[in-house]
Amino acid sequence: MMANLLLGLQWGDEGKGKIVDVLTQNYDIIARFQGGPNAGHTLEFDGIKHVLRTIPSGIFHPNAINLIGNGVVIDPVVFKSEIEGLAKFNIDLPNRLLLSRKAHLILPTHRLLDAASEAAKGKAKIGSTLKGIGPTYMDKTGRNGLRIGDIELSDFKERYRALAEKHEAMIAFYDVSIQYNLPELEKEFFDALETLKKLPFIDSEEYLAKAQHDGKSILCEGAQGSLLDVDFGTYPFVTSSNTTAAGACTGLGIAPNKIKEVYGIFKAYTTRVGSGPFPTEDFGEDGDTMARVGNEFGSVTGRKRRCGWLDLVALKYAVQINGVTQLMMMKADVLSGFETLKVCTAYNYRGAQISHMPYNIEPENLTPIYREFKGWQADLTGMSNYEMLPEELTAYIEFIENEIQVPIKIVSVGPDRKQTILR
Ligand code: IMP
Repeated sequence: MMANLLLGLQWGDEGKGKIVDVLTQNYDIIARFQGGPNAGHTLEFDGIKHVLRTIPSGIFHPNAINLIGNGVVIDPVVFKSEIEGLAKFNIDLPNRLLLSRKAHLILPTHRLLDAASEAAKGKAKIGSTLKGIGPTYMDKTGRNGLRIGDIELSDFKERYRALAEKHEAMIAFYDVSIQYNLPELEKEFFDALETLKKLPFIDSEEYLAKAQHDGKSILCEGAQGSLLDVDFGTYPFVTSSNTTAAGACTGLGIAPNKIKEVYGIFKAYTTRVGSGPFPTEDFGEDGDTMARVGNEFGSVTGRKRRCGWLDLVALKYAVQINGVTQLMMMKADVLSGFETLKVCTAYNYRGAQISHMPYNIEPENLTPIYREFKGWQADLTGMSNYEMLPEELTAYIEFIENEIQVPIKIVSVGPDRKQTILR
């Protein structure tokens, strides 16, 4: 049985959590493949709003197995609070939530290192969520990290101490003032490990290979977005993992020829949180309206998201890198009420018109070229099928499809599970 893959095509926050939740009923296994608690996947159903950080978004469906893959980095402290937040839902977690032994652990000192590194960068800071993501992936590729499977080793505490001491020396090297009480943070960390130990640690690549062999359906769930990919994103203003399709292969051990559909999620406009170039960012009233109507505030950090028009050049680039086979457009309802909508269809790059994403996308090198569309006034949030949508919106959707040559299969018109139009 082939697996399917779902990922974000912009700078994250596209609404992946909602769509995984909507699609979960069709899958036996939901497997998260990269990132960590820097993500905040928001789900809304039955009047409840819930934010997941590390746990896959299939956790609310009674039959799905949720798997945290080797490509994910896990902070036991955040994870414990996520588990506690789920208590009221009475989910049989030990039978529904599995952890890869090869997933790396975020230590308290990784979080401190993240803070020290950002402080040392000053104005050039990445705008990290400060969850320790960068330092943990650095230890992974530097071959120093601790993994879930190491928790079972008799000398885990000594290994922990050796790494934490190295981190302390590095924090001192940064020479910035970071206040912390390590014994307190360590107590919290080791307490949280006890919660983690109540869940099965598995050889997840074997588990998934057997599941595919036995005909089980798998949905691979990405976090962040393609433009935050460490290789193909707006480096260095990116996260530290491969958020693109290849990340599902390395982050789960699923071979490329065992993946079929690639679902690409994008917002009807664009947002970005943190620093870095954003060609279609709107600094005026339109951007403010998108932020206000779309409630564009980070679910992890509470930071206001930068907003702007849809960038089709960037979207095409993401579709190409990921091999997207089906598109899903989110938050179409947020665009109701604009007289005119704009879509960036090309860039003016150092005086020449181009239609691909170049190496330098800073404002001094590049300005967007827009095509305008007539807006619509109708409230979409109660609409339940494609025929109900205003014709200005269907023209907008069909223009995007035509440019990208990939069908838009879902149009989301509100945060609730029910506000999802299938085509
Ligand atoms: P980090 O991954 O926390 O180090 O953050 C690196 C960059 O990625 C920053 O600009 C963050 O704002 C951004 N980022 C990380 N995770 C997310 C996410 O889930 N949604 C949107 N942006 C994110």
